[in-house]
Amino acid sequence: MVSIKTVAVLGGSGNLGPSIIHELLASGFSVTGVTRAASTNSTPKFPDTLPVKSVDYASFDELKDAFAGQDAVVSVVGTLGVAGQRVAIDAAVAAGVKRFIPSEFGINTRKVRGTSIGKILAGKIGVVDYLEEVAKGNGEFTWTGLSTGLFFDWGLDRGGLGTVNLKDKTATVIDSGNEKFQASTLAQIGKAVVGILQHPDETANKYLSSASFNLSQNELIALVEELTGSKFPVTHVKSEDLQKAGDEKLAAGDFRAFVDFLRAHNSADGAGNQLTEKESANGLIGLPYEDLKAAVESWLKREGAL
Ligand SMILES: NC(=O)c1ccc[n+]([C@@H]2O[C@H](COP(=O)([O-])OP(=O)(O)OC[C@H]3O[C@@H](n4cnc5c(N)ncnc54)[C@H](OP(=O)(O)O)[C@@H]3O)[C@@H](O)[C@H]2O)c1
Repeated sequence: MVSIKTVAVLGGSGNLGPSIIHELLASGFSVTGVTRAASTNSTPKFPDTLPVKSVDYASFDELKDAFAGQDAVVSVVGTLGVAGQRVAIDAAVAAGVKRFIPSEFGINTRKVRGTSIGKILAGKIGVVDYLEEVAKGNGEFTWTGLSTGLFFDWGLDRGGLGTVNLKDKTATVIDSGNEKFQASTLAQIGKAVVGILQHPDETANKYLSSASFNLSQNELIALVEELTGSKFPVTHVKSEDLQKAGDEKLAAGDFRAFVDFLRAHNSADGAGNQLTEKESANGLIGLPYEDLKAAVESWLKREGAL
């Protein structure tokens, strides 16, 4: 039985990383932060007591040294660092790391190969393909990918998930607004990573999906209206128009197309991208679902709307 106690977190200084580091420390793992020697991140959010190694991410040797003695590597690198994870994977194998968790943490990239959004996510798809290949030839080395759906609290804080405009008290809804999609709070993603590392045998060489909850745009609006006591008049957008706008941007090399594709991927009528009970790894990794209303209420309190 594999046991994981020491964990290096790569790119842990951004949006998601601090929640993962917090939950790992809270669960008793010994955590080391790994940051780029060339990092220009002026506001790294590492805890003061966290050991942090500064490394050239293009250097196999430096990464291998940084990973020596680590049971697991969790990569939370931002989009621009995704392709570069291959060097880190090679270094992890050479350092005797037992588990690599790549920077996924969004839609299930195993399902979108060849689609419009899949073209933008080709880097992530290629890294998971590479992990599958590497793990076949290295008995001790394993990986786990994790799809979490939308970052719920983070996305609410940055514009109400594109659905609720708290300032103007308006809402924007794609298609009928009834399609449900997968979402996770940042804390829940941290707990999911902990759950994976606490269940190393059950999660080895698997691509998993977890969530805080599924929700629809209309459910979100209804909760905001109920909690604030205000009406939020709705403007409707068609998913086919989003898809078209994304295609046009992508054809012009504009990767902001991702946002259009993502909104359609989650909320187009019939998209079918909520996390089903059959596909959910929450049970496997001991992760209870969260309460949607409580999460919306916390957001409204953060915004001073309650
Ligand atoms: N599901 C969602 O709604 C959602 C939302 C946002 C992000 N995501 C996904 O979650 C993961 C983490 O995203 P994030 O927003 O936390 O990332 P981020 O804040 O943009 O970046 C995380 C860290 O990556 C490092 N980094 C930045 N540029 C890099 C580069 N070129 N090469 C290597 N490392 C680099 C930086 O750390 P140092 O400066 O310390 O090296 C940075 O603090 C990604 O896979 C992203 O696609 C999902």
